[in-house]
Order: sequence, then C-alpha cells, then structure tokens
Amino acid sequence: MTVTYQFEYSERLRCAFIGAGGHSYRNVYPTFQYAPVELVAVCDVQLERAQTYARGFGAPSAYDDHHEMLARERPDAVFIVTSYTAEGDVQATALAEDCLRAGAHVWMEKPTAAGIAQLDRLQAVADETGLTVMTGLKKIFTPAMEKVKAILSTPEFGTASSISVRYPQSLPAPDARSDDVAMIGFLDHIFHPGAILTYLMGPVRRIGYEWEPRTGSSVSSLLFESGAVGTLHLAAGSATGAPLERVEVIGSGANVVVDNGVRMTYYRAGAESPYGRSASFITGDDVAPLHWEPEFSLGQLYNKNLFYLGYVPEVVHFCESVLAGKPPEKGTLADVREILKLYELYRRLPAGEPATIEPRS
Ligand SMILES: NC(=O)c1ccc[n+]([C@@H]2O[C@H](COP(=O)([O-])OP(=O)(O)OC[C@H]3O[C@@H](n4cnc5c(N)ncnc54)[C@H](O)[C@@H]3O)[C@@H](O)[C@H]2O)c1
Repeated sequence: MTVTYQFEYSERLRCAFIGAGGHSYRNVYPTFQYAPVELVAVCDVQLERAQTYARGFGAPSAYDDHHEMLARERPDAVFIVTSYTAEGDVQATALAEDCLRAGAHVWMEKPTAAGIAQLDRLQAVADETGLTVMTGLKKIFTPAMEKVKAILSTPEFGTASSISVRYPQSLPAPDARSDDVAMIGFLDHIFHPGAILTYLMGPVRRIGYEWEPRTGSSVSSLLFESGAVGTLHLAAGSATGAPLERVEVIGSGANVVVDNGVRMTYYRAGAESPYGRSASFITGDDVAPLHWEPEFSLGQLYNKNLFYLGYVPEVVHFCESVLAGKPPEKGTLADVREILKLYELYRRLPAGEPATIEPRS
C-alpha cells in the first residue's frame, strides 16, 4: 500500500465524529492525516471535549447532541468511538442506527454490539437504509495478518489445517457471565482474537474450553467449518508489558508464525533434512524460511503504530469503499456476527462441554 496524504486526495468524504475520548484521540482522529476525510464536526456529550478535539483535528463545528449534529451537518459518514452504558450495553450501537437513519454511512469501533439481538437490530437498519456499517477490526487490517492471509491462499502453503492464537484475556466466573457489566472486559477484547480466527480460518463449527478460576484464563479447542482445527489460549495472568499475541497457522508441510504483531516467519515447504544424515541446518535459498520485521530507525510510516496496528488501513478501507459505492470486504456486520456467536457461547457454555454452532445461529 502506497500512502496518500489527506490533502492529496482529490475527493474526500464529509465526515462527522461522535466521541472525543482517549482511544480516538490516540488512534482514530490521527488516521485522518492519511485518509480521504474532511472532518466537518465533532460531537461529545462533554461539549468542551468536543470543542477541544474540533480545534485540534481541524473540524469547524462542535456539538454535544448527535441528533443536532446530524441534522445540521448532513455528513456523508460518521465515525463513532464511544463506550458503554451503566448497564453494560454498547453505546455505539444505537448511535450507529441514528446515523444510518440520518443518511450517513458508519464506521464504528469494536465492539459493534453487546449481543446478536442488538446486532440484528443494527443489521435491519443497515438493510433498510442501504448504507454501510463497518467495524474497526484492526487486527485483520495489520500488514502481518494480511500477509498471513495471502500466504494461506497459495498452493505452496496447502490448505490451512490448524491454527493457534494466544491473547491475554480473563473470562469471568460462570455466575458472572450473565451480568453485562461484568462481561464488558471480555466483550471488549474477544473482538481481537475472534477477528483473527474467523478472518484466517472462516466460521467456527464446534468449540469447547477449560477454564482456570484464579486468573480466568482459558484454553479452547476449535473445529472450523473448513474442517481445520485450532486453539484459542486466553492467557490471563501474563506479565504486564510482555508481548500479548502469538498466532501460528499450519498448512501442509509449511507454517507461518506472527509474534507480537510485527515479527513474522514463514517456514516454507520443500526443505529436506534426512534424519541422522544432515550435517547442516541450512536449507536451500528457494525453500529457506522468510522472515519480516520492521526497522525502527527511519521516520517511515510502516514503523508507526497507526499503520502496523491496522488503524490507518481500516479507516482507508472504509472511506475508499464508500467513495467507490462498494460494500467493505472486511469489518462487515457478517464478520462481527461470527465473533458475537463466540462471545455468546462463552457466556452460556460451561467449561468442559463442547457445543456446536449452527451455521445460521
Ligand atoms: N481497537 C482498539 O485498539 C481499541 C483500543 C481502545 C479502545 N477501543 C474502543 O474504543 C471505544 C472507546 O474507548 P475509550 O477508552 O476511548 O473510551 P472513552 O470513555 O475515553 O471515550 C468515549 C467518549 O464517548 C463520549 N460519548 C459517550 N456517549 C456519547 C454520545 N451519546 N454522544 C456523544 N459522545 C458520547 C464520552 O463522553 C467519551 O468522551 C470502546 O469501544 C473501546 O472498545 C478500541
């Protein structure tokens, strides 16, 4: 991807923004430097914050009421980065419906909704209005994960047979899982490993897990509709500051590993080292492992977290899809549905009892 700076785009979307909080300040408003966005207004229930962000990110107007903003500004698209209600619902779901009804396409942070029922309502409004709703599933927009996906589609790798994903996240105790507030942390984070699993391997067909009560860590075994198998290790109890993630996919005589989101090794098929007779571990150049990781010396874009964590790519994908009049390919409501199916299963499924997910459930 060659990056275009905002001022170089000949056509830009008139965009409004709902939410002037911490994450959006760090990671979403700054992506607009590299996206076809003309920011026309910012809204936050705390007007002073909306005004500060509007000044800081170059929007002419600020509001504390999104209905008023939508009516006055008539934006092409709205970015929504809000939080949770006191009852544990996702604020952005109802806001997204309001934006669609006002004629605006929507980009929203994860989680899109707190359950399938809420997602169904949002989907119905999206269908009724014919407008786009895309969720920022940043993990599947990272350069590393996009490369893994490309490797998986090559004949040399073979059909993906198994995957393991590690991500630190605690699953609350069984008696707390029906409490929406207690589940906020899990809902907030299951979107990350959930997006990776379903992007790379497709929908999950069967799942079972074991759970450790002191940390809330869990290990799940997964069977995908493709027939591939996998594990999801939610490694609660890991050290703060340790790399969070490790993803490995195995094909047929080949495998690919991504550590810490940016260190990637592709162990290619075809190397031969006869057992007991090979004096060197060095394999031929044509079958040697391929390794990538960014350098962190130059003032480049690829070594900026806005890019290698997937933030700019997800926002550019949304804008370009809307400008082209095409639905986005990733971060769709269908992608979100697969993640929410997993979330709801963890809420109701006891440890040690595998369950099957019906394709249309
Ligand atoms: N993808 C990621 O890497 C990542 C990282 C952190 C957070 N997030 C997500 O970002 C979201 C926000 O997180 P945060 O930590 O920035 O939260 P935050 O509480 O700092 O910000 C939310 C803002 O939304 C405003 N708001 C709430 N309801 C509103 C309404 N009806 N109208 C206008 N403004 C309203 C609040 O006043 C607040 O300023 C969450 O959904 C979280 O899951 C994603």
